[in-house]
Parts: sequence; C-alpha cells; structure tokens
Amino acid sequence: MQRPKADNFTAISRTYNQVTGGATRDVGKFILSIAPKIDKSSHILDNACGTGIVSEEIRSIHKEAPIQAIDFSSGMIEVVRGLSEENNWESFDAKEMNGQELEFPDETFTHSISNFGIFMFPDSRKGLSEARRTLKTGGWIVVTSWSLVGWYQPLYAAFNRFKPNCNLFIPPKFPLWNTKQVAFNTLSEAGFKNVETLEYNTFAKQKNIETHVTLMTSSLKKQLMKDWPLTDISEFEAILRDEFEKVVEVDEEGNYAIKMNSLVSHGIK
Ligand SMILES: C[S@@+](CC[C@H](N)C(=O)[O-])C[C@H]1O[C@@H](n2cnc3c(N)ncnc32)[C@H](O)[C@@H]1O
Repeated sequence: MQRPKADNFTAISRTYNQVTGGATRDVGKFILSIAPKIDKSSHILDNACGTGIVSEEIRSIHKEAPIQAIDFSSGMIEVVRGLSEENNWESFDAKEMNGQELEFPDETFTHSISNFGIFMFPDSRKGLSEARRTLKTGGWIVVTSWSLVGWYQPLYAAFNRFKPNCNLFIPPKFPLWNTKQVAFNTLSEAGFKNVETLEYNTFAKQKNIETHVTLMTSSLKKQLMKDWPLTDISEFEAILRDEFEKVVEVDEEGNYAIKMNSLVSHGIK
C-alpha cells in the first residue's frame, strides 16, 4: 500500500475526528502531560496537524501560547481554521505546507509536536531533519507512531474470508517507527539528545460495532471497493461485522473499543 497523499486526507477531513474514535486525541493529551512547560513565551509547531486535535488540546490548557499548525492537506487546514475561528483562538496560525519542506527559519520553535504525522511522511527522515532545523537549540520534539492498529486485523481477516489469497488489503508498514527500539533509533539518528520512547496504549471508541463497520466501509467504498456490486458490499460488510465482534472490547461507558497502541518518542535538540 502506498503512503496516503494529501487528497486522501482531504477526503476524510470532515469525518476524521469520528473515524479516529478519540485515539489520537488521547495520545495528544498524554504528550501534553510529558511536555516541558508551555507558556506565553513558547512557540509550538503542530506538525501534520490534521483537524487540529493537538492544537485544541493545547488551547484547552494554555489560552495564549503561540501555535503554528501545518498540514499538507487543504481539507484538514480548512477544518482547523474553522475550529480556530469558531473559538476565537489568539496567537494561532494554520498553513497548508509540506512537513518535509517547512517554510520557517532555523531555530523558530520551542516545542515541535507531530502526533501521528512525521511517522507516515513518505520520507520521515527528511521530516525529522526539517523539524530539527526549525527547533530552537534546547527545544523539545515529540513524534508519535502506532505499534498496533486494532482495525487492521479484522479488515485483513474480512478481506481474506471474502476473497481468499487475493491480498486485497495489506496493512501499511512504517518500518522506521513500529517498535520501541527502531522508533528510539530513528529519533536518535536524526540528531536529538535525551531521547526516550514510551509505550502508551489507548482505544478507538465508537457507540456500537455498526459505526466501526460503516466508518471503515465508507472510505473503502471511495477507493478499493468503488466498482464492487452492492451484493458484494453487503456480503463483505457482514463478514467485517463478524470480524470486528471478535476483537472489540466494551468499556465501562458502553463504548465499543478497538486497541490502538502507540509509541511516544521524544527528545531535545
Ligand atoms: C493520522 S493524521 C494525524 C493528525 C493529527 N496530528 C492528530 O493528532 O490526529 C496524519 C496527518 O498527516 C498529514 N500529512 C501526511 N504527510 C504529510 C506531509 N508530508 N506534510 C504535511 N502533512 C502531512 C495528513 O494530511 C494528516 O492530516
């Protein structure tokens, strides 16, 4: 599977927060709990900001700390600008920009945060070198990645049951970031000091299994399944529902939760 392009992200920009089921937000909150102090004198980069989940979490605790959000998807930037206008965020700017070619001077930011961004860039090393260039000496970087995405297993199993051996779905691989050791090495080799990689496990939560299935298939229908007859789609959805039932956990609030395990790698320039 190829790395997603900006248009793929634009296509899901309106549903992204629901699709992720709170998983990236939960990791975003964890990031802020380990971040060096954020205050008015900070300058924070929200790199590959998506719909602005990390910026929103920062704003919920720091009203004034200057934030620069960037993303290469115009749709994502539209959503985050809407959020900022709705909430009258001050000292906030969002720009459409490639994280592999940041348009900021050297030594600009005190905090460089990329929540599930740099790890999926086509060239993560270039993304890290740009993040390092634009970070002040002594500034803090954090990059998160998934070591386990609970959706992949039921999706993979459902496709294999539907059309055995066709390899219709192959989970994307992010080899620089998928284990604690390699994520640690990747950040260290990019020149950061005091690197540490922490494991933080969370869940993508929906109100029922049907929502998990619908959210999955609605994006598949635009790509992989776009030419499938309706009967095939219904048959596949029934299989997928069955596979989701095998892995989903019901939490104390009655949510249907899928495991998402993250790696949180952070260090200092
Ligand atoms: C999984 S989302 C993460 C969004 C958000 N940071 C969060 O916490 O939920 C990945 C984001 O990376 C962006 N992205 C991927 N490659 C990029 C690149 N080369 N430059 C800038 N943004 C990129 C996508 O558009 C998408 O919004």
